[in-house]
Amino acid sequence: MTYDRPDLTLITSEVTPGALRWRSPSNIALVKYWGKHGDQLPRNPSVSFTLDGAATDTTLRYEVREQSGSGVDVKLSLDGVHNDAFSQRTAKFFERLLPIYPFLKQLSFAIETKNSFPHSAGIASSASGMSALALCLVDLEGKLFKPLGNAEFFEKASYLSRLGSGSACRSVYGGAAVWGKVDGVAQSNEEFAVPITDKLNPTFQTYHDDILLISKSEKSVSSRAGHQLMESNPYATARYAQAKQRTGEMVDILRRGDVEAFGEMLESEALTLHALMMSSRPPYLLIRPNTLAVIERIQEFRRETKTPLYFTLDAGPNLHLLYPHADAEQVKSFIREQLLFFCDDGMYLADRVGKGPERLEVNE
Ligand code: DP6
Repeated sequence: MTYDRPDLTLITSEVTPGALRWRSPSNIALVKYWGKHGDQLPRNPSVSFTLDGAATDTTLRYEVREQSGSGVDVKLSLDGVHNDAFSQRTAKFFERLLPIYPFLKQLSFAIETKNSFPHSAGIASSASGMSALALCLVDLEGKLFKPLGNAEFFEKASYLSRLGSGSACRSVYGGAAVWGKVDGVAQSNEEFAVPITDKLNPTFQTYHDDILLISKSEKSVSSRAGHQLMESNPYATARYAQAKQRTGEMVDILRRGDVEAFGEMLESEALTLHALMMSSRPPYLLIRPNTLAVIERIQEFRRETKTPLYFTLDAGPNLHLLYPHADAEQVKSFIREQLLFFCDDGMYLADRVGKGPERLEVNE
């Protein structure tokens, strides 16, 4: 499949300046994507919950470029302040999209972006940020050329998000999404994610995910470098086979509403991800002593109260605590009374499974 469209160029005298705005959430992988090949294709399938509160709000303003240069013209501000590093990263992303959207060269872009969570919180913003931007771009295509149908719109937004950051491709749908080919999930493929929202048991539609911020410091090894290290990881082949099998199993668990099977797989996935880091060459460690202290307390709480509270981890030290809505009151007191002590500045974000991205009115 190709989205390349050399015909998507503008008659610039007909274009008036405009703007588009999207809010797109972050997501938490239940079965993890870790290892990639080719042009941002995953070595194994993955499945995630889309979050609700943790999101990026992006406005894309455009006008005809006065002088069409060789590259693209993109400026980005984060929380109202011009950001050079993000401007450059976004310009690179736009340049990569030129075979799909050659008109990007004909316009000047000013992007305003803000996250709902503190910038320094140590929460990855690439999934929400890249998906918000991709949604603005597909929307812009519709405005300047021909609007796409609903399913096509989100597929293309997922495809473009993936080129920006792999995990971002799962953020464009509410509920849950699968990325990579999985038996039994229609249309699942490596190039864009597909929603499995209609397969979600009601128990999981209202699931909670509270994020404990164990450390806000910059990670010592980036996800990008981590994916790369999988190429020489001695356990890689077995891991990819395991993740493929598990993604299929997890989709079935989500359909059945089996919270115990869910939790067991969730925790094993988190620990396996970090075991892969520890068995990379060179090995590295992203969890912190407080990550382990919290894990022990969660397991103790579960033994004592029989509450189905389970954790997962991203590629970092912060913990995501997942549990059913019916147990929210009890779990929240447990977090406040026994876990906040282990968090950086006592910080945590209460989040839950969300409905997916939203198109917003532009502020003039
Ligand atoms: C551990 O999507 O951040 O969160 O494709 O290089 O941008 P790039 O990597 P990224 O990797 C995320 C890895 C993960 C697992 C997951 O979200 O599936």
